[in-house]
This record gives sequence, structure tokens and C-alpha cells, in this order.
Amino acid sequence: MMNNLNNSQTIGPFSFSTVPHVLCEPGAAKQIGSQVAQRFPTARRALIVTDAGFLKTGLVDAPIASLRAANLSVSIFSDVVADPPEAVILQAVADARSKEIDLVIGLGGGSSMDVAKLIAVLAGSEQDLKSMYGIGNVKGGRLPLVQVPTTAGTGSEVTPISIVTTGETTKMGVVSPQLYADLAILDATLTIGLPPKVTAATGIDAMVHAIEAYTSRHKKNPLSDMLARQALGLLANNLVAACEDGKNLAARQAMLFGALLAGQAFANAPVAAVHALAYPIGGIFHVPHGLSNSLVLPHVLRFNAPQAAHLYAELAEIVAPQATGSAEARTSALIDTLETMAQQVGIETRLRQVGIAESDLDRLADDAMLQTRLLTNNPREITRADARAIYAEAL
Ligand SMILES: NC(=O)c1ccc[n+]([C@@H]2O[C@H](COP(=O)([O-])OP(=O)(O)OC[C@H]3O[C@@H](n4cnc5c(N)ncnc54)[C@H](O)[C@@H]3O)[C@@H](O)[C@H]2O)c1
Ligand SMILES: [Fe+2]
Repeated sequence: MMNNLNNSQTIGPFSFSTVPHVLCEPGAAKQIGSQVAQRFPTARRALIVTDAGFLKTGLVDAPIASLRAANLSVSIFSDVVADPPEAVILQAVADARSKEIDLVIGLGGGSSMDVAKLIAVLAGSEQDLKSMYGIGNVKGGRLPLVQVPTTAGTGSEVTPISIVTTGETTKMGVVSPQLYADLAILDATLTIGLPPKVTAATGIDAMVHAIEAYTSRHKKNPLSDMLARQALGLLANNLVAACEDGKNLAARQAMLFGALLAGQAFANAPVAAVHALAYPIGGIFHVPHGLSNSLVLPHVLRFNAPQAAHLYAELAEIVAPQATGSAEARTSALIDTLETMAQQVGIETRLRQVGIAESDLDRLADDAMLQTRLLTNNPREITRADARAIYAEAL
């Protein structure tokens, strides 16, 4: 793999933050009790935040037993739903307060981990959730927070971001350093039952995090670049294997690690137009986050290519190493490979397949333009007409 940090390159000013401890090992969730006891010896009452789907797998039993063996009492909040609305968060916070919880554990996909973050900051705070939206608006501290992802996708275990569904269809982000967890645990045994389509969509979400971090307009930095490249290699090389055989533990652990690295990258070099255009698809049509991203990915990359081909060509060396020729040619090879991968793993590739019609495109374009936090990071400026044209290409 080419080293993109050449030694004569000037290192521009940048800052970088991440979660201080990562434990990466199949079976590691069984150590959660000893981990917590060692790091937070005064914690007594843990809250596990998950959703009903994951609870049903029975995979919460081992971490619960491990926490109890370390003398912690354990409560479970399992009412998280995909793309969590404000009401769910407020209910969870009330629950945590009434039980005098002193440690929060997110155990699930991005939705559960995002709710866990907000419980940790809200449970001991007077601040209103509504005043937290945006960047840097959380005041005060939080309860100890451990994140255990069960999808290899969002990287939420290492990001300072929580995404909340605020209205009928709109999503907003709380982005604050307090949302970085104390510890992230990557245990592939928790992901072996993740259905192939969810594996595919969440895995492509992680690939998008790496790609968009690498081309992020204002905060692209050499550490995020290294992480994004390493992430993309792991994800691209293991996605199909993890979809074809969910029990392939090596592929599953590699996917979890790739998703974490991509999360570290985009926590510091934020995502852009793929996510901005994906959010309305999820919000209005209830399409899962990863799939929404995957549907618009190739079309946004083609739109961005006039400005970003030199960077996409560098990523092509990782995803489509056989590609040669100009930066434009290698960019095309990257996009073609990503499209082929989406077909191989059997997820929908056209907006029509998820119930979207031509008559919906204006509304999608209007909503996408509201995602100014994300659009500002895109390597090429996007007008409303551009957004509509990209959706039309994806139809
Ligand atoms: N905080 C961030 O940095 C960040 C980044 C990207 C996305 N997000 C948010 O994360 C959410 C999406 O998260 P997600 O894609 O991980 O999906 P999810 O958490 O919504 O879970 C999707 C489905 O998978 C099931 N599931 C999860 N793990 C499973 C397992 N191991 N076995 C069987 N079933 C399992 C769940 O029950 C659920 O039905 C969205 O709300 C999105 O906006 C957050
Ligand atoms: Fe994402």
C-alpha cells in the first residue's frame, strides 16, 4: 500500500481527538465487568442501552453476567428504535435518573450507542436536549460511558456525535467532545447474527465515512487520512466475506476494526454530501442509514470528481489496485468497484427500489439543502439543482 505521508510534505496545522481506550478481541464483551471495575471502581449501577431486536438475540446475557460478577447491578433500557426520536431519549433519561444509574453502556448499533451518549450527558445535567443540537453546545460533564458496537458501521463508539430524529422526518446532530466514550469494546462474536443485508448496508456506511473523511474540505488531516486508508482497505477486503458467511469471525472482527478506524477518521474530518443527501431518504422513507448512503454514493462521487479526482485516485489504489491511467480513470474504477460491491452483496441500488418516485425528488433536494453542517465539508459546492440532479441519477 502506498504511504500517502511523504516525508517532504508540509504538515499543516490540525487537531485530533479520540476515545482513550479500545479493546479489540472476539469475546471481549465477557470482560466488560472487569474492565469497568478497573476503570470505574466506584460505579455500582450500570445501564445497558440496546434495542428490542438485539435484546432478542440473547447476546446481552454474557455482558450482564460479567458486570454482575464485578458487583454491579444492571438495568436494561431496550426501547431504542432505529433513527431514535427525541421522545425515546427523554424516556431513557428519566429511567436512568429514577434508577440512579452511575455508568452507561451502549450495546447495539449506532442507534443504541447514540442514545447511550445522550443519557450519559443528560442524566446528571439540568441542560435541555434542544439546546444541545449543533457543535460544541453540551455544557458540563457526563457519566462514565462504555460503547460496544454490534454493527460494523457507524463508528459511533469513537465519535463525539449523536444523531436524533427531531421532527417527523428531520435529523439533527449533537456534536460535543463530552460524547467521546471512555472505552470502546470490539467483539465480533456479537455481530455473527447480523443479517447479510444489514451487514452490507452498515459496512458501506463505514466505507462512506472513510471516503468522505479523506476528501473533507476543511478538516482533512494526516491522521484521519491514515485511518481512512487503513479502514477502507479492511472494509473493502472483508465486506463480501462477512455478507456471504456471517460466522466468519476473522472477517467480522476486521469489519468492526475498519468501522472503528473510519469513525476515528471522520470524527476529526467530518462527512459531507453523501450523508447530507442520505439523511432525507432515511427521514422521509425510513430507509436504514447505511442503505441511504449506499444509494447515493456513486452519484455523489461522480458529481465530486471534477474537484476530488486526485484524492479518489489515491483511494482507488486501495479499493481497485488494478486501475491505471489518469486520476479520472482511476476515480471511475473506484466508483465502478463500489457499485459492483453493492450488487454483489445484494442490497438495493436504485431509489425506485425503496419506494421513491420522480415526484419525490424536489422534496428530497429541499431537505438535503438543510444539512448545512455536512454540505460545507463537501469537496465540491452543491446547489439545490445539483442535489436534485444527483437524486435523479440515483432514481
Ligand atoms: N454517532 C455517529 O457518529 C453516527 C454515524 C453514522 C450514523 N449514525 C446513526 O446511527 C444509526 C444507525 O445505526 P446502525 O446502522 O448501526 O443501525 P441500528 O443501530 O439502527 O440497528 C439496525 C438494526 O440492526 C439490528 N441489530 C444490530 N446489531 C445486531 C446484531 N448483532 N445482530 C442482529 N441484529 C442486530 C437492530 O436490532 C436494528 O434492528 C442512525 O440513527 C444514524 O443516524 C450515527
Ligand atoms: Fe454514516
